[in-house]
Amino acid sequence: MNYIGSKYKLSDFIKSTVQEVVGDTLKDKVFCDLFAGTGIVGKSFKTSVKQVISNDLEYYSYVLNRNYIGNHIKVDTSNYIKKLNLLEGKKGFVYKNYCKGGESDRQYFSNNNGLKVDAIRMQIQSWLTSKEINENVYYFLLASLLESADKVANTASVYGAYLKQLKKTAQKEIEIVPANFEITKNTHRVYNQDSNTLINQIEGDILYLDPPYNARQYGANYHILNTIAKYDTFVPAGKTGLRPYKRSNYCKKGEVALVFEELIKNAKFDYIFFSYNNEGLMAEEEIRLIMKRYGKYNLVTTAYQRFKADRTESRNHKATTTTEYLHILEK
Ligand SMILES: C[S@@+](CC[C@H](N)C(=O)[O-])C[C@H]1O[C@@H](n2cnc3c(N)ncnc32)[C@H](O)[C@@H]1O
Repeated sequence: MNYIGSKYKLSDFIKSTVQEVVGDTLKDKVFCDLFAGTGIVGKSFKTSVKQVISNDLEYYSYVLNRNYIGNHIKVDTSNYIKKLNLLEGKKGFVYKNYCKGGESDRQYFSNNNGLKVDAIRMQIQSWLTSKEINENVYYFLLASLLESADKVANTASVYGAYLKQLKKTAQKEIEIVPANFEITKNTHRVYNQDSNTLINQIEGDILYLDPPYNARQYGANYHILNTIAKYDTFVPAGKTGLRPYKRSNYCKKGEVALVFEELIKNAKFDYIFFSYNNEGLMAEEEIRLIMKRYGKYNLVTTAYQRFKADRTESRNHKATTTTEYLHILEK
């Protein structure tokens, strides 16, 4: 998934830095990804550590992580994916509120894909209700739907706006692709809480922190993913059909340093790794000062080529080089 702040391209750098600092004994360590997003960082540690604890404020992220991290034993799913792909479309909440043919003028999906997303979402729920599937399969199918719907969404990059014309990838018919996960002997834990609340309820060895670094709220930018994941009823607001969303203190200039320090102070972990970049709300020096109060501090940086999407269909991606910081604290 193309996600703001995704560490997809940085996960090797993060893992090798953690290994260098902690040593080669990850096998008996509990690793926590407290702002997990797509789950890519937790995934890269899942088979190397004793346990991953994964958390995010957003429900769509919980669904992805509940599957990629929480699921750890094999589930027989190929038949369900096949059945979902054969379903006829059905009029439901997504079609009515987010497709041209529905009751609004919005166009986040083609009519056909909106109808299919509804039919698939309803079928997954009905299998769970009738106990045809258990929760592990439910989250696997839901994660597969979120990833596959995102591929045919008619947006430039995030769901803050839709495009007037259906772009090429949005014209393609949705195909549910299995959201496969790694099998492990060990179990993992997945949460959907505010970081600063959860930190008081967990402990472990390695804490990885990757909060938002600017004012863009994830709940607003990915509202459609929450709507598909929750499939609840609400009145979509305004031109973009926004749902009520949670506002993170990490996106607020006046709050971020306070909540960050509270988090570091309350963390019961031996090592803390904190990803941030040079365009963030907190300056490098401010972070250093906060972290130094709680133990031995170090900093590793890497240059990183980031692509900024235009808000146009042509997606003229502009490559910009930013510096990614990994602040390290031994508590
Ligand atoms: C930079 S992204 C993480 C990206 C992730 N590492 C990845 O590679 O996909 C920041 C994440 O923090 C989450 N978030 C924001 N505020 C939060 C909070 N107070 N508690 C927990 N998660 C929060 C957002 O929903 C978002 O998924």
